[in-house]
Amino acid sequence: MLLHVPDVLSADELAHLQRALAEAAWADGRETVGVQGAQVKRNEQLPDASPLKAELGRIVLGALDRHPLFFAAALPLRILPPRFNRYQGGGEYGFHVDGAVMITPLDGKRSHLRSDVSCTLFLTAPDDYDGGELVISDTYGEHEVKLPAGDLVLYPSSSLHRVNPVTRGSRLASFFWVQSMVRDDGARRTLLEMDSAIETLRTTGADSAAVLQLTGVYHNLLRRWSEI
Ligand code: NI
Repeated sequence: MLLHVPDVLSADELAHLQRALAEAAWADGRETVGVQGAQVKRNEQLPDASPLKAELGRIVLGALDRHPLFFAAALPLRILPPRFNRYQGGGEYGFHVDGAVMITPLDGKRSHLRSDVSCTLFLTAPDDYDGGELVISDTYGEHEVKLPAGDLVLYPSSSLHRVNPVTRGSRLASFFWVQSMVRDDGARRTLLEMDSAIETLRTTGADSAAVLQLTGVYHNLLRRWSEI
């Protein structure tokens, strides 16, 4: 499932992140990839040890926490601390796959996170740069994604994807991976569709006993499919 999640950041949060990243000390993005990625990756990232990365990451996590569509779509169990990158001057990231298992400090100890859902949170307005589309390849073909600043795209971590060269301006983004309570992308999609239909029924005055029954079905499917 490829999903656009709008308005993740408030205008104040977005302005704060943009200001902070404009003055940040960036490092070569190849610091955090394996051999496969290093050959095709030409961008910059905030270093993993950077206090700014940690501070801005907390803002992103706080914003995700209050976003019902993000929660309903990703059903997050654990989220890798968000990273930040910048593409400019022809910078790009050729087709690659994300690692299936990430090792990360979570709650103060080293732990493993299975990447089920990949997320990119756009931080630069699309008119301010040329190129820089996130291109996601699946069985329906290739999808080009370039969203308003403050909006997020989520997609299965199993997808091949790339970022087109940025030929004007610079493109700032935050990116991170989610280990979902529900590993299977199709099951997550079914749950999201059911959640959305139940919400519509609830707000349009449908029979309340039937809505309650459907809500029970949603939770029973989640109970059956979640691994926590
Ligand atoms: Ni990637």
